[in-house]
Amino acid sequence: MDRNRILELTADMTLEEKAMQMTQLSPDMFYHRCPSNLTGPLREWRFEDEQLQEIGSVLGPSGAAYLRKLQEDYLETSRQKIPLLFMSDVIHGYVTIMPIPLAQGCTFNPKLCEEAAEAVAREASAAGLHVTFSPMADLVRDPRWGRVMESCGEDPCLNGRMAAAMVRGYQGEDPADKGRIAACVKHFAAYGQPEGGREYNTVDMSRGVLRDFYLPAYREAIKAKAALVMTSFNTVERVPASCSKLLLRRILRQEWGFDGVVISDYAAVEELMNHSVAADALEAGEKSIHAGMDIEMMSGVYAGSLKTLLEQGRITESEIDECVIRILELKNKLGLFENPWKDADEQEEKKVIYCREHLETARKAARESMVLLKNQGALPLSDSGQVGLAGPFACTGNLLGGWHCEGRPENTRTLGEALEEKLGGRLVTAMTQPFSWGGDRDVPDMVEEAALGLKDCEVCIVAAGEPEWETGEASSKTNLRLSKNQEKLIHALHEAGKRVVLVLFSGRPLEIGPVLEECDAVLQAWFPGSAGADAAADILCGDYNPSGRLSMSFPRNVGQIPVYYNYYNTGRPAEAKADSYVTGYRDCPNSPLFPFGYGLSYTDFTCGGLEISREGGKLQAFVRVRNTGKRSGKTVVQLYIRDVSASVVRPMKELKDFRKVFLEPGEEIRVEFTITEDMLSFYNEEEKWVWEPGEFDIMTGLDSEQVETRRIVVPAQADREA
Ligand code: BGC
Repeated sequence: MDRNRILELTADMTLEEKAMQMTQLSPDMFYHRCPSNLTGPLREWRFEDEQLQEIGSVLGPSGAAYLRKLQEDYLETSRQKIPLLFMSDVIHGYVTIMPIPLAQGCTFNPKLCEEAAEAVAREASAAGLHVTFSPMADLVRDPRWGRVMESCGEDPCLNGRMAAAMVRGYQGEDPADKGRIAACVKHFAAYGQPEGGREYNTVDMSRGVLRDFYLPAYREAIKAKAALVMTSFNTVERVPASCSKLLLRRILRQEWGFDGVVISDYAAVEELMNHSVAADALEAGEKSIHAGMDIEMMSGVYAGSLKTLLEQGRITESEIDECVIRILELKNKLGLFENPWKDADEQEEKKVIYCREHLETARKAARESMVLLKNQGALPLSDSGQVGLAGPFACTGNLLGGWHCEGRPENTRTLGEALEEKLGGRLVTAMTQPFSWGGDRDVPDMVEEAALGLKDCEVCIVAAGEPEWETGEASSKTNLRLSKNQEKLIHALHEAGKRVVLVLFSGRPLEIGPVLEECDAVLQAWFPGSAGADAAADILCGDYNPSGRLSMSFPRNVGQIPVYYNYYNTGRPAEAKADSYVTGYRDCPNSPLFPFGYGLSYTDFTCGGLEISREGGKLQAFVRVRNTGKRSGKTVVQLYIRDVSASVVRPMKELKDFRKVFLEPGEEIRVEFTITEDMLSFYNEEEKWVWEPGEFDIMTGLDSEQVETRRIVVPAQADREA
């Protein structure tokens, strides 16, 4: 359909129809008409039947048959017959669930994440969905916040690469193509830094920090052509994101040239009143319209206020039309005017959903996302002797993690099943009771029975962690230790002389310091998804050599949070050890327990001989990586840069590029990085993206702590040319 037709449709709409086109509701509200199921502020809103007939988009429906019928029924009664948009939270899988995004970040393998997102899109589109509320590009530094699981971690470069890869995976060349859906990058902006890690809390940071750390990943998603942006619940510089002209008009639209659809988060327009920036719904609507918010999700501010606002001259019709046109353009981009059902197809659903190929992708992604944090010879498991398995994650399919959409924990293989397939009768289980939904926050104390049951096992795997419902939205925590009885189990097995292998299932870095000494090996498995148990068994039994690297630092204790690798130096750096008046704590080092980029392998790698070349005006770093061990495996070569002196403070190091490489035993390769001006740049005090000539430290290594450094001087352009 050409743009003129979109303009004609817009011109033909009544104001009420425009307001409803700009409103998104769940099917309960407009299709089944059962407001008793509604939660939150929506309960207060009363929509008229005629209004509901002209709704523009739907939140959270799924299933080909259901969505075909819903679209059909709607088109029958709607006056203009503009198809509905179906949007949902397909965060890391539809039915086949991939590892949580924080784990996907640990793969350091954007290609693999793209492949995973492509499989996810294939399932979601067959089920009739048009838009996914993913990727979440929020940078995270505080594991108390439950939603760190939805992010790819603490680093702007890694986060940006992953967000872009996910967008490409969902949308392909064109979101209208079969098997593709449109991506909505969220939560714009800086939702990942709530004060105290407390969900929905205030966010406050300098403009420079916002621009240098928090904004780049959203931008990468937009450069990859994400079709939509969702605003966040929080404030930025004292203005809620959902009415922030700075974020939505100036940065997103003017600077980044984004011309897609902006949607609010759930009821966030109405919440402007709670934020005390709107005295009433009218003012909330007025502010969001001025900021250019196209779709209001799950509240009725637009539906109830646009008419009055227009009559009172507080908004203009062209501001409304601007939003409506963008929404219709999205529908057009997805081809809905020609085919309102898009890919909804029951036969295709049967073919692709939970298919072997997707489970294989999920297993690959899960294997690459698991991080071996410690290994004193306990892994891989030897091929003789009994192996014990205990802990609440030993025999449960609850390995999918929060936001698992239509995932099927009941069909998900358990670690016990996966290990039994490999170890047969050598596997012995005890104390495997899982966490119970809504039950106690701990599993029962069965430590004595476990010690007895596993008495003949030299090695005991403890599958421990936090229940999946303690991660995700509204799941902030102040205590990140394993529950009491899990710690007690590890302690008892260690005391009994067992070699303890801890397999950790969690949506965030947990505080594992208290048990670390008692474990001979620790494998961070995250919430690994539908094929996660098989992936963990592959690693434990040595059929896959672990290659995950941390996307987020592990704190030594909660008091140290936030702890992240790309911090600023202070006037009194901790290295000045002779003096105690330096930045630090009396009772704890500044460094994390495990740093960003860290992870072990079953083989050994060295990385060294960093050389810098400036041939042909091209600045390049070369480093040699060697597999000095006995197994083939993958490692991640990481390039960090520090601007030694600049007009504003710069981080001690920042990841600028990385390569995941595969090496046979004894193999050595030379890895090459090109250092671009962009990699040296930052936002200066005038908010200009600049690089300043002078000294830079170029660092390479296999994690963010152990690096080799070369200091270089980069002169101004004119000097370089002379
Ligand atoms: C979450 C969003 C999500 C939306 C729709 C909100 O509560 O913050 O991430 O996309 O609900 O389900």
